Amino acid sequence: MTKRKVAVIGAGPAGYVCAIRLAQLGQDPVVIERDALGGTCLNIGCIPSKALIAAGSLLEKISHAGTMGIQVEGVALDVARLVEWKAGIVGRLTGGIGVLLKNHKVPVIHGSATIRDARHVEVQGEKGVESLEVDAIVIATGSIPIEIPGFAFDEDAVWSSTGALAPKDVPQHLVVIGGGYIGLELGIMYQKLGSRVTVLEATGGALPGQDRDCVKVIERSLKKRKIKLLTNTFAQSYERTAEGLAVQIKTPKGEETIVCNQILSTVGRRPYSEGLGLENVGLEVDQRGFLAVDRGMRTQVSGIYAIGDIAGQPMLAHKASKEGLIAAAVIAGQPEEFDARCIPAVIFTAPEMASVGLTEEQCAEQGLEVKVGSFPFAASGRAMSLMETEGFVKVIADAKSDEVLGVHMVGPEVTELIAEAALAIEMGATAEDIARTIHAHPTLPEAVMEAAEAVHGMAVHIFQKQR
Ligand code: NAI
Repeated sequence: MTKRKVAVIGAGPAGYVCAIRLAQLGQDPVVIERDALGGTCLNIGCIPSKALIAAGSLLEKISHAGTMGIQVEGVALDVARLVEWKAGIVGRLTGGIGVLLKNHKVPVIHGSATIRDARHVEVQGEKGVESLEVDAIVIATGSIPIEIPGFAFDEDAVWSSTGALAPKDVPQHLVVIGGGYIGLELGIMYQKLGSRVTVLEATGGALPGQDRDCVKVIERSLKKRKIKLLTNTFAQSYERTAEGLAVQIKTPKGEETIVCNQILSTVGRRPYSEGLGLENVGLEVDQRGFLAVDRGMRTQVSGIYAIGDIAGQPMLAHKASKEGLIAAAVIAGQPEEFDARCIPAVIFTAPEMASVGLTEEQCAEQGLEVKVGSFPFAASGRAMSLMETEGFVKVIADAKSDEVLGVHMVGPEVTELIAEAALAIEMGATAEDIARTIHAHPTLPEAVMEAAEAVHGMAVHIFQKQR
């Protein structure tokens, strides 16, 4: 029996961040991980997808270089080299986490953890079973892709995001099931690499829940890219035929068959807690598989905490890491709790999309009276010089107090621009605060400033009728 103060189960962006902070606070943690350090985000999620998306964007930029007078010939894609390059980035980052944990003197036990009771964890590793006695347990076991009937992931005919991030070649025709975050990011990436892409989406539009004006820009971009988005459409089954994979779909017009070479199923993720032994401590997950936590990340069982995807929506790495920091502080006895006013969301589509705070729909539901200002990138000199003028920035402010309630953007580098908006909301800034802040010229963030000016009808670089 090994004694430690805290056992952190799972080494994704929730778990490893929590463990490092616990070590910084003198809490003597141990991390248990059965797979590679870094979790979904680093190994089979955020990082590898952004690497491949960057490659797709570069390839696309090269194809447009002629507009700038740059003639490029003989462009070819070496898929094996691309995947190797991506794996190198992942390797450097996961290796870096190993070094960080080592430097903080956090031991990593490789194996599967089972909670025996609120003070005991058993780890089944390659070398046998190791028992731990601890004062606290942090559950950071993350989530896994949801499988739908008829489309079991074999990572051959049917890819989950994992298979899509390690292709052997670029499929000629890719059918993506689910037009959410992952489906659109990877669907567009494959279009840039040369695939014909069809996206099947169950609801009436892409990216449900996101600002509809932003989504319209994305849907227009899909059309321009000849990516077919079939809405109100369900994939039912598929079979292997001589022509390829025949996917049976149900559309509002009836049943159809689409023949493709590859299927990618991205219909969401679900929290993962199988085999963890929650029943041994009387912990129950809700209908969707989440563990209920309070603002200190405590579960209903004293001494057991939950962070990251298992602890509720949104399933985003930055929310997971924040929760890891909070759980560590609470365990160390600090008066800390999750009180962030907003969590930004970034989607690496083309153009990119990003949002923080309330949408106009949510403001209406809450009975909030708002003023909205927006500014198009078509009026931004910087966007023109980048040849990326699609999209806009929208600022939503409270009609009376002028406080910024939400910011939604679609366009070049908006996944970076959203940081300013998150800071504004977190600090209770008004639209006027943003408008009065001098933004460097010529830069894309000027669009955020102009959108804030537009809230008051005072944007300079677009015409707004004066009231
Ligand atoms: P998602 O929830 O974003 O999208 C799933 C989509 O599939 C929805 O539009 C849904 O209506 C549709 N759908 C569900 N069942 C269907 C069916 N049977 N047929 C057709 N369509 C169906 O889930 P996704 O894309 O798998 O991503 C999971 C999570 O991973 C996201 O919610 C997000 O939290 C995280 N993520 C974050 C990223 C980022 O921050 N940039 C990138 C990728 C994922």
